[in-house]
Amino acid sequence: ETTTDGERADVLVVGSGIAGCAAALAAAREGADVLLLTKATKPDDASTDWAQGGISTTRGNPESLKADIIDASDGTADPAAVETLVENADEAVEDVLVDTLEIDFDEGEDGAFDYTREAAHSESRILHVDAATGMHILRPFLNHVDNHERIEVRQDTAALELITAEGRVHGVVSDERPEGHPIYAGVTVLATGGIGALYGRSTNPDDATGDGIAMAALAGADIEDMEYVQFHPTAYGGENPFLLSEALRGEGAVLRNGNGERFMEDYHPQGDLAPRDVVARAVDTEREETGEVILDVSPLEFDAEYPGIAEKCRDRGIEGDRIPVAPCEHFLCGGIDVDDRGRTSLDRLYAVGECARTGVHGANRLASTSLLEGLVWGLRAGEDATGFEPNPVEAPELRDSDPALPDRFAAEKFTRLTRTMDEYLGLERDPDEVARASAVLRRLKGEVDAYVRTRTARDLYELRNASVVALLIARAASENTESVGCHYVATERDESTAEPTADD
Ligand code: SIN
Repeated sequence: ETTTDGERADVLVVGSGIAGCAAALAAAREGADVLLLTKATKPDDASTDWAQGGISTTRGNPESLKADIIDASDGTADPAAVETLVENADEAVEDVLVDTLEIDFDEGEDGAFDYTREAAHSESRILHVDAATGMHILRPFLNHVDNHERIEVRQDTAALELITAEGRVHGVVSDERPEGHPIYAGVTVLATGGIGALYGRSTNPDDATGDGIAMAALAGADIEDMEYVQFHPTAYGGENPFLLSEALRGEGAVLRNGNGERFMEDYHPQGDLAPRDVVARAVDTEREETGEVILDVSPLEFDAEYPGIAEKCRDRGIEGDRIPVAPCEHFLCGGIDVDDRGRTSLDRLYAVGECARTGVHGANRLASTSLLEGLVWGLRAGEDATGFEPNPVEAPELRDSDPALPDRFAAEKFTRLTRTMDEYLGLERDPDEVARASAVLRRLKGEVDAYVRTRTARDLYELRNASVVALLIARAASENTESVGCHYVATERDESTAEPTADD
């Protein structure tokens, strides 16, 4: 069944992190009426709110920032995309964060900004608020867009399917009741964030299920670089992981193995400040070989300078200055392929923020460039997305329930999915194991598809989206036989870990 009844918006933005807010603001400034749809019910449902270290600026030296981004990516970042990011960085930060939102970035005693440093940055150039920069940006940003006369923010509403006709995107079907609600838009901007929920341990919120990437892929958009899943080297190593910002190492904290020894110099000339993918694998190896890795924060005024992180440590019962760490899924460098204005391969569909693949990160992202990328591309996409009329075409109608759906179906299948990703598509990929994962994931996607078209239940759609994204990661990992950046192809098979456990 199909319908053309529905709402209209000039610009429809899906997602409420920094990229979605920036796109909404820029489109509204151009005179568009914007509807910002978000499945979030509170700010910290968006990954932006969880960002710690900060947002990079050029600090007057754009060439140095460009070089660091390209070096961290192992030479795989697209120089034109890096140019777009860096050349627009300072103006975007100044215009939106400093002048419009008046973010209170930390300052030194002289009243000048206190720029911090993170791994693989050759200088201190990162604006921050404590090590809780994301929430200090996002909350005022959400308030600002919510109060904007041209922007309506609608929370607790998920986009389920893109409405498409002849290669053009006309909006989304949402999970508003009854019957899945079509929203027609001149332009649709996906800003749905990352994929952390596909892994057992992630620094993302639980609802990071790759929705935009899956919807775009199902509609036929080009998707690129999905094998480049970035793991952060220093998440808390116990239950309920949380991020221990790279800013800690940038300011002097060091990694030690289970023998109390520093080890990073053995892995990379930049030592503790090596690119993230290198440090993550080194931490993993040292954990295996020496039992644990700790982040030694004794060189810092930890409690005074990083009260938010210190409080999380104290909550977990860590009293001293040695914090156990382990790598943890953090950021997807790939995603929906876009150009320098966030345009995808489908007409009237844009993508910005983590769900987009701009080319800036190549195979490995440099710290504190994700908020910046979301801001810069969000503004550029929002500016470009105006001037198109919504055009109602037939949209799929979704039935509200399926009596045949087994109890706990989505939760159980989700567990199978995360176990498969953890075992076979984590820090190291063995080609045979990737093939095994693909088989498990294909089967799982088939099981999900049997129900998803007849039900508007959000968890089922999230499962569908996660399984589409997982398959895209598995496919990209199997097609790329070369170790580069975050994609590390295991050369020696470890028989002890090769048992098929994810699909039993
Ligand atoms: C961190 O604070 O270590 C994370 C920063 C980032 O991912 O860019």
